[in-house]
Amino acid sequence: MSVLLRVRELAVAYGHIEAVKGITFHLNEGEITALVGANGAGKSTILQALSGLTPARAGSVMFQDEDISRLPPYEIVRRGVVQVAEGRAILTTLTVQENLALGAYTRRDRAGIKDSLAQVFDLFPRLKDRAGQFAGNLSGGEQQMLAIGRALMAKPRLLLLDEPSMGLAPILVQEIFRTLVTINRSGLTILLVEQNVRQALKIAAHGYVLEIGKIVLADSGANLLGNPKVIEHYLGG
Ligand SMILES: Nc1ncnc2c1ncn2[C@@H]1O[C@H](COP(=O)(O)OP(=O)(O)O)[C@@H](O)[C@H]1O
Ligand SMILES: [Mg+2]
Repeated sequence: MSVLLRVRELAVAYGHIEAVKGITFHLNEGEITALVGANGAGKSTILQALSGLTPARAGSVMFQDEDISRLPPYEIVRRGVVQVAEGRAILTTLTVQENLALGAYTRRDRAGIKDSLAQVFDLFPRLKDRAGQFAGNLSGGEQQMLAIGRALMAKPRLLLLDEPSMGLAPILVQEIFRTLVTINRSGLTILLVEQNVRQALKIAAHGYVLEIGKIVLADSGANLLGNPKVIEHYLGG
């Protein structure tokens, strides 16, 4: 199993607030890794740092043997590290198809972009049906699908997701998680940040539990699901 991304002693601060306090973890290529923890633990901050949107104060982020921790966001996207934004951040006054096209902004390979679009429509037939509609007219679940589809249009090697289940009805949550499994089976490595700890650990090969900016547990998804501390604090045990 080869390591795709290795984070060492990463620290991120907002002024005097140390949101991420020197964390070390890695992602195996081809796996879903879950990063779970309570609100305010620092999960989003870690993703923002991996994407280059919030500067790391210390530490390194090695992606395929290159330190990407000081690169600008578009250079990180170009290398294949692509984040699906929390709260979706789709452009409501553009059509579904236009939103998807924006996801491919770093690419020049027209044929490849066409293939990616076909794959996204295959994965989310509802986006195909609504391709010409304004994204603002989509339901919450469809907007989340669009956000994921847009990220896939960048042809990622690593997909970062920030709470894709947030605000969705349970049936849609199931659908989103099933889709992530499908995407992963096609070979894509996924880092999944979730407060929905049970669902995330169920589909994850490995998981990390974050508390106030520090990793307190690291294990397989299955072991974490059975860990008494996880059950007590995160699974309503
Ligand atoms: N832009 C910001 N400015 C100042 N503090 C922030 C900012 N974003 C997050 N924080 C603080 O950093 C900590 C971690 O936040 P965050 O990464 O959003 O956690 P999570 O995603 O796990 O809920 C929290 O204490 C939060 O209040
Ligand atoms: Mg968050």
